[in-house]
Amino acid sequence: MPPTIRRAVIPAAGLGSRLLPLTKATPKEMLPVGDKPVIEHTVRELVASGITDITIVVSGGKSLIQDHFRPNPVLVDQLRADGKTAYADAVEEVAELARQGHITYLDQHGPYGNGTPVLNAARHLGDEPMLVLWPDDVFVAEVPRAQQLIRAYEATNCPVLALMPMDPGDSRRYGVPVVKEDLGDGLLRIVGLVEKPEPADAPSAYAAIGGYVITPGIIEELREQTGRWHEHRDGEVYLTDAINAYASGRAVYGQVISGRWYDTGNPADYLVAQMAFALAHPEYGPVLRRLARELGDGEHSASGTETVPA
Ligand code: G1P
Repeated sequence: MPPTIRRAVIPAAGLGSRLLPLTKATPKEMLPVGDKPVIEHTVRELVASGITDITIVVSGGKSLIQDHFRPNPVLVDQLRADGKTAYADAVEEVAELARQGHITYLDQHGPYGNGTPVLNAARHLGDEPMLVLWPDDVFVAEVPRAQQLIRAYEATNCPVLALMPMDPGDSRRYGVPVVKEDLGDGLLRIVGLVEKPEPADAPSAYAAIGGYVITPGIIEELREQTGRWHEHRDGEVYLTDAINAYASGRAVYGQVISGRWYDTGNPADYLVAQMAFALAHPEYGPVLRRLARELGDGEHSASGTETVPA
């Protein structure tokens, strides 16, 4: 059997501080983008990519995620009895998606940092290659981003990082890969990641976005890092440190993802994502586009009242 990936982890224990106060009571993963919460876009992407074992790593205050994916036969029966078939079907479809992805939930335990949920999941899933997708990114792509990563893994049998071309000024927000070789079709051999460099120090024009194929070798490095977490910068365990430790001597690849990428983890980009999905909606899009044109002309303010010209 050629190597492939059936398991995926979505770390969803973060506080979503950049979106406060929106995320005070609502997990950032449950904020809507288009007509679905952010995390449902990710789960759909994973299921469409053949993933059959999804672990969502949560913390306190995230029960809405579970509620969203849990079957609710009482609600469905009520909707059907009321003749509201389309709503009943929509509710059942989400539960069916969760069933296909065999979603399980884990509580995050351990030191702060984005390496911890990955290690928690590895303890649960066993040391097998797995996809790790941050819950902030939403992709619109002909071939799902997860599928593009899986293909790169199948071709290389090595860890793979999802990359996107980046504006140089954005390097302070991302891990930036050191590229050794361009193998074509967006596949790059990389030798490490520089975390959030100044633009002048950025080793390439790509950003590592929240998507990784993590192999047992990287998990081993994470274990090593976690054992010494108190020696680390900020006392946190970072996936990047484990990837860099692994990459010194062993092959790691980057896959430049083809598709449109929306970051939903900060207010400005979240609004962009919401607007893009709203405008593209087959049913509501045309009305919203008309409204956007009107608002763009300054005829109305966002509150719906007339703007008084100065
Ligand atoms: C993390 C990673 C960084 C990556 C980013 C993508 O940073 O450490 O390499 O570019 O996610 O969202 P964070 O945003 O958690 O600080």
